[in-house]
Amino acid sequence: MTSFTISPLTDRTGAEVVGLDFTEPIDPQTRTTLNRAFAEHHVLVMRDQHFTPEQFKQAAQVFGELQQHDKKEHHVPGHPDVYYVSNDEIVNGRRIIPGETFHTDHSNHPRPPKATMLFAVELPSAGGDTQYVNVHDAYDDLPVETKQRIDGLKVVHVYLSKYSPRPLGAISEESRRDVPAPGIHPLVRTHPENGRKALFLNPVRMESIVGMEDEEALALIDELMRHATQKKYEYRHKWRYGDWVIWDNRSVMHQANPDYDMSERRYLYRLMLRGEVPV
Ligand code: SIN
Repeated sequence: MTSFTISPLTDRTGAEVVGLDFTEPIDPQTRTTLNRAFAEHHVLVMRDQHFTPEQFKQAAQVFGELQQHDKKEHHVPGHPDVYYVSNDEIVNGRRIIPGETFHTDHSNHPRPPKATMLFAVELPSAGGDTQYVNVHDAYDDLPVETKQRIDGLKVVHVYLSKYSPRPLGAISEESRRDVPAPGIHPLVRTHPENGRKALFLNPVRMESIVGMEDEEALALIDELMRHATQKKYEYRHKWRYGDWVIWDNRSVMHQANPDYDMSERRYLYRLMLRGEVPV
């Protein structure tokens, strides 16, 4: 077995993996160790990787099966199933920074992706960190009365909520046709591998809570978002070249930071992995 280390990056969220080259085959024992570490730490940072788009796609499958993105047109030229995020897109005079507020990826899907990953290709000279907050810990810390109030609630997640705090980038007609019907998901879900409960939140896509007036639903979502995004739940990733970061959408929310010089490019390959129906 190859020698490598997995070291926590904070007390509760994030771990760094050093000493593996994911362009080489990963043996079954290492694969098991990595997947266990992923369920425990929720965000893994694999250092010193060097990927072509195809190598990235191969490496991703150490953690699961690939899931296509809604915006199929946002793919790396010549690689239809390797996507990217960048700061290049301007819509109606406004620069779109994908993932600029805390959210959970593609939560509008009936089976939302269990994981998302980025590989740094071009980085600004300063800033552009990604923040992750641990939604297991956030749930655990809620008062008992709040847990009783929210356990069992169902939420309707659409492609873009009329209450979204930000717009999404343009989507082609062809991609829009393939967007699935809204997902109706529990507000509190249980992670199938680590067994922990978690808040399942995404203000970009949450349109309503079943059986609740919108005003009350928005106030509840706002209260839960304020609670879950406290610094004590955070791991903040400062990108370095060579970083491949994978996060568990069942355990963390995340956001991108638009705090850098926009004349510099930020461009990362992005892939997602299939998930299950949230319960
Ligand atoms: C995303 O929300 O997937 C993008 C995060 C980032 O660019 O840091």
